[in-house]
Amino acid sequence: MAGLKIENLSKTFGAQTVLDDFSLELAENELLVVLGPSGCGKSTLLRLISGLETADRGKIVLDGRDITKMEPQKRKTAMVFQNYALYPHMTVFDNIAFPLKVAKISRAEIKSTVQKTAELLELENYLDRRPAQLSGGQRQRVALGRGLVRQPSIFLLDEPLSNLDAALRVKMRQEIVALQKRVGITMIYVTHDQTEALTMADRMVVLKDGRIHQHGTPGEVYNDPQDSFVASFIGTPGINLFDEIISGGRGQALPLQFDNSIKDGHYTIGVRPEHIRLEPEGPLTGELLGVEYIGAVSHLSLRFGDLTLTVIDNRPEKKYRAGDLIPTRIDLDRIFLFDRDSGRRL
Ligand SMILES: Nc1ncnc2c1ncn2[C@@H]1O[C@H](COP(=O)(O)OP(=O)(O)O)[C@@H](O)[C@H]1O
Ligand SMILES: [Mg+2]
Repeated sequence: MAGLKIENLSKTFGAQTVLDDFSLELAENELLVVLGPSGCGKSTLLRLISGLETADRGKIVLDGRDITKMEPQKRKTAMVFQNYALYPHMTVFDNIAFPLKVAKISRAEIKSTVQKTAELLELENYLDRRPAQLSGGQRQRVALGRGLVRQPSIFLLDEPLSNLDAALRVKMRQEIVALQKRVGITMIYVTHDQTEALTMADRMVVLKDGRIHQHGTPGEVYNDPQDSFVASFIGTPGINLFDEIISGGRGQALPLQFDNSIKDGHYTIGVRPEHIRLEPEGPLTGELLGVEYIGAVSHLSLRFGDLTLTVIDNRPEKKYRAGDLIPTRIDLDRIFLFDRDSGRRL
């Protein structure tokens, strides 16, 4: 089977378990994004796949070959890092050609492969330059080219855009997706940036403390979060999450009438800011605490009793004043109910 299959992988450093019984499957030519906060085990996962670390337990199968204990050079993986790791004294040509030289490919073939790769990455006019004479985006493209020439079975990208400014990050993430589709390559892209994950992924996994909290398309993960961690980690502005006591089907913190079948007790409730609708006849009135105007929309902070919720206003030409009373409505089918202790979606 082509693609990647990871079964029950475990890795500890001393007393710390970084990955525990970790399983994941990735189809050929799929772009999977692994999203999670710093320290959750993203780099360790890529290092295990590429062979820079060895697993304590479990199995890694790439394109039908068991690579778990294989030497890194034989695995047919290529990795790209945040800091590019280019050779500063070499030209762009020599940086891209480096893996081919190591593999003792003929000069003529190296020349044509580097030329083709440079064209793909729009670097053909920069082949004589050194990394210091390039922009950040160009350097990152050289790093991508150096990986591509090896024709890896899987491309592993470890937060490759973190060093770039915001505008260039947006451009590069589109370029990487376009390249991945054009070349047809299996890719794992690791990031802590939820916007990158949502915009780039075919499918994504949300990782925390070495455990997968959810695996799905960006739409599934955003619209149907399986627990309160996933709900809170994804979305800007972030989801409104608050403790609620429900009794007789009615909420105390927010006076919503829930389904009568909901058992009395403590819950965590999640409502996305775009799902609190501004509506003249709405039954829930919030007091305006502040407005963040960001152009296309505004983010309003509204106080409902002891709760402060963020609400999106998509007609931000309206003029508000602090203290304004603003009627709203929340559809019950837009509300996520989570178990207060485990965070699991109910
Ligand atoms: N070589 C190592 N020795 C000891 N601890 C490590 C090593 N590599 C990673 N760790 C620890 O493993 C955890 C996960 O690290 P890492 O995979 O780099 O996370 P991420 O890439 O998601 O930020 C962190 O707590 C980190 O300190
Ligand atoms: Mg990392």
